[in-house]
Amino acid sequence: MKSVALLAAFATLGLGLQNSLPSTVDNHFKNLQGAKGLKVEFSVMRLSGGAEKISLTYGKPNMFKIESPSMLKLSDGKTLFTLDKKKNTYTEGAAVLAPAMDADTWAWSGFFDEKATKDLSGWQAKGKKQIRGTSLEEFAFKIAGGDTGSLYIDPTNGIAKGYSRNGKGGDLIIIANSVTAMKVAPDAKEFTFVPGTAKKEEPKPVAADVLYADISTITTQRCNGCHNSGNSKGGVATDSFAGLSRIVKPGDSASSNFYKVISGPNPRMPKGGGKMTPEEIEMIKNWIDSGAKQ
Ligand code: HEC
Repeated sequence: MKSVALLAAFATLGLGLQNSLPSTVDNHFKNLQGAKGLKVEFSVMRLSGGAEKISLTYGKPNMFKIESPSMLKLSDGKTLFTLDKKKNTYTEGAAVLAPAMDADTWAWSGFFDEKATKDLSGWQAKGKKQIRGTSLEEFAFKIAGGDTGSLYIDPTNGIAKGYSRNGKGGDLIIIANSVTAMKVAPDAKEFTFVPGTAKKEEPKPVAADVLYADISTITTQRCNGCHNSGNSKGGVATDSFAGLSRIVKPGDSASSNFYKVISGPNPRMPKGGGKMTPEEIEMIKNWIDSGAKQ
């Protein structure tokens, strides 16, 4: 009996350190998925300096309003408006969920992204923590790429009230003053962009017809150090057209490993940090979608 119990304990421990989500964490994501809307007021504190107050309102499908004293990111589900309050200018682009998935907003990304935990592992319950007068349950995790973090879940509503992250993705602590999961969808008016006196700024154009030469400039700087014919980490060599073609499905960036590993909330590549810029990601996407020609 004893040895069976021990074995079972080992098995659970083994699993616990892999990918299985503690049930409290799983419930946090289920509660977010199940909500019709979400409102959070939170502060972001960066160890590199500075604190910022942000409020967010989420609605489905793909509607959000993320606002700080310096910026507003608003998606009505079709268009993403980004207002720079200091410059009093805004840009318009196709709606993408990226602003709801970045490091600042990640704790609540499960509202939109049912795979929000796919790059996380090594979950460990750390017990109760008193944070600003509230008793929260801490769950530590590892992020693919080497960063670590903790979610702080509020047992009264089963949703995270904050999270912290350490590593190359930036050291930060996020704590909410209030988190409200809504049973009724927020009014569509909340997601209507009102430019006021702000001037529209055209986003920097990204050539639709991207050439392989443009892409090889990017891979030379960002990938080839670890992925070349002599040293092909993960069996991948990005330093030739032939090598790159093996991780590309022409015309279909969404199914291409090249695009998948550099995009999303926690991109796996370039390994060791230094996320690709939105322009680089867009160029790679356009190159693949326009046929990934040589
Ligand atoms: C600092 C080294 C390093 C850099 C820079 C780097 N990689 Fe990787 N890459 C690795 C290692 C190590 C692996 C294998 C193990 C793993 O997946 O972590 C890998 C695996 C991969 C894989 C295959 C596994 C998978 O996750 O699908 C792809 C595709 C890939 N890298 C693409 C890229 C691209 C594209 C870039 C440039 C934007 C890049 N890598 C930059 C180290 C690196």
